[in-house]
Amino acid sequence: MFARRVAESWEVFGRSDPYFGVLNAPRFREAGEEGPARAAFFATGEEHVTGLFAAIHESLCPDFAPTRALDFGCGVGRVILPLARRVPDVTGVDISRGMLEEAQRNCGRAGLDNVTLLEPRELDSSRATFDLIHSYIVFQHMPQRMGMHAVRKLLTHLDQNGIGALHFVYASRLPHWRTWVHWMRKRVPGVHPALNVLQRRPLRSPLMQMNSYDINAILRVLQECGCHRVALRFSDHGGWLGVMLLFQRRTQLDVRVT
Ligand SMILES: C[S@@+](CC[C@H](N)C(=O)[O-])C[C@H]1O[C@@H](n2cnc3c(N)ncnc32)[C@H](O)[C@@H]1O
Repeated sequence: MFARRVAESWEVFGRSDPYFGVLNAPRFREAGEEGPARAAFFATGEEHVTGLFAAIHESLCPDFAPTRALDFGCGVGRVILPLARRVPDVTGVDISRGMLEEAQRNCGRAGLDNVTLLEPRELDSSRATFDLIHSYIVFQHMPQRMGMHAVRKLLTHLDQNGIGALHFVYASRLPHWRTWVHWMRKRVPGVHPALNVLQRRPLRSPLMQMNSYDINAILRVLQECGCHRVALRFSDHGGWLGVMLLFQRRTQLDVRVT
């Protein structure tokens, strides 16, 4: 039931307002059209991937140069495009067909032919493995139970010595009024559509869910899946506190502390 609700919401975002569904800051309001807002939107992806590789080189593996990368929850391809300029073979997975179609158009516009785009069930039924698995600002939009299930499945596709970079929200320090507005949007009929209109969104645009994860639960999955080298980088997206967990699937032998 969770999965169906998440899928339906993202299908609406993917069809009606995919760019704003990915980054909902006012400066990307016009990113749906070719122009400066779209260029700024994709520049954030380039910056993200530059930072990602720098963090991996600094914390886990100085000469890491992946050959097959997976971006889980790829949206319109904001991270896929810079990945595909650095990695020979890139796969993007997304629950929303609308997002995948726009990602395909963006790869075409960028002249990139080394990208495969899949729905989650297509990845589940494949035996493909990757030496880099990445996901950013995705798990926060699904309930923890569903997210942890997805993480376990994703890790079955990570090569030995491969690197994972998965982002989670773990706490919030939103001002009380924002928590209150979110509660009103969820519970009081009419508030959410009215605020959609005020924010120049489609009237029926669904409420984007935000979920915090228990870091202990994530660490346990990493340990059980043999990912024994772990580093992290913090994030703060408007009061939603998060971590990008960087880890390597590697036996415990070479990191044992005695
Ligand atoms: C906020 S967007 C981020 C897109 C991309 N990661 C980026 O940083 O540009 C979240 C994306 O996750 C996708 N998504 C949400 N739940 C998913 C799931 N269970 N499986 C795969 N994709 C999912 C949504 O369709 C959406 O494209």
